[in-house]
Amino acid sequence: MNPACVDSSHGLVGESQPIRQIRKQIEKLGRSRSPALLLGESGTGKEVVARAIHNVNACGNFIPIDCGSLVGPLMESELFGHTRGAFTGAAEAKRGLIELADGGTAFFDEIGDLPVEMQVKLLRLLQEREFRPVGSLTQRKVEIRVIAATHRDLIREVERGTFRLDLFYRLNVVTIHLPPLRDRLEDITVLAGRFLDRHAPRYTLTNEALDAMLSYDWPGNVRELQNCIERMVTMNSGPLLHVSDLPSAVQHHLAARRAAQMSVAVSADPGPLAVPRMQAIPPSGIIPLMEMERQAILQALEYTKGDRVIAAHLLGIGRTTLYRKLKEYRLDS
Ligand SMILES: Nc1ncnc2c1ncn2[C@@H]1O[C@H](COP(=O)(O)OP(=O)(O)OP(=O)(O)O)[C@@H](O)[C@H]1O
Ligand SMILES: [Mg+2]
Repeated sequence: MNPACVDSSHGLVGESQPIRQIRKQIEKLGRSRSPALLLGESGTGKEVVARAIHNVNACGNFIPIDCGSLVGPLMESELFGHTRGAFTGAAEAKRGLIELADGGTAFFDEIGDLPVEMQVKLLRLLQEREFRPVGSLTQRKVEIRVIAATHRDLIREVERGTFRLDLFYRLNVVTIHLPPLRDRLEDITVLAGRFLDRHAPRYTLTNEALDAMLSYDWPGNVRELQNCIERMVTMNSGPLLHVSDLPSAVQHHLAARRAAQMSVAVSADPGPLAVPRMQAIPPSGIIPLMEMERQAILQALEYTKGDRVIAAHLLGIGRTTLYRKLKEYRLDS
């Protein structure tokens, strides 16, 4: 991959309007030290964005902190470290994640899962820029940038009393919303292409496979798309990747969609002389030739109010051919 391209895109692949906007926000945020809150469903790229913000002006370390795993009696020491002999088993002094992030970025992933007692301590850290290791009597100064991310609705968590309002305000200085992949269809094509380039540059998706991917809702977002491409190139000898090579979730979705389209088309069928509705056309946009021919005949007959001689003339075929085709398509009744 061209490194210049990585720089300007911040490793964030996509050409949709929201992704372009997010790149600009990354650029601005990267040059400041203010906290950022990243919101979005799982797999939308929150960590990619957090790392990109850090990398704009990379100084110090980028330390991811999985808030969901900060549970139990050791969570405070995990975050703030401890002095020697602070508790049974603390044979040596240990630096915590916050100290490791000093001068750099602490990325609080899944901040919505941070236990309430730790929220108080994080707030203090953000306000006072200091912390106290477990067992220590003195505060230590730190200079960190805090980026927090969550897939949860933090406002609702505040209302439910599981997230502190003051911490929410402190984190919510600049918020970036990462839209789900299903709301930025153009990115599916670009991302799929990029993942193919990365894993198997010889491989190509058929139009039908790409259409199936565009109509799928990607509940696991970019992560799911990435896994999908990896799986397809691993399991198939290529170079063409077909609908049948897609993971079963995507295929089931497509089958369900087609079944729904068929039932809409059948229930709305107003009789043989009407032009078939677009819903009956497969989502790939490809209309089978026979269907096109049938539509052309129906249109000609509609236009000539059922006069088959003129219809045949308009269609550029002989009368007998038209009669044969009417029989073939069961339009002769
Ligand atoms: N715009 C993007 N361009 C390139 N890769 C992306 C993009 N968005 C996500 N990815 C990739 O998708 C995967 C998931 O991204 P990431 O871990 O940043 O998501 P997340 O929002 O943090 O998910 P979770 O909430 O589950 O932790 C990663 O492998 C990441 O590299
Ligand atoms: Mg993540």
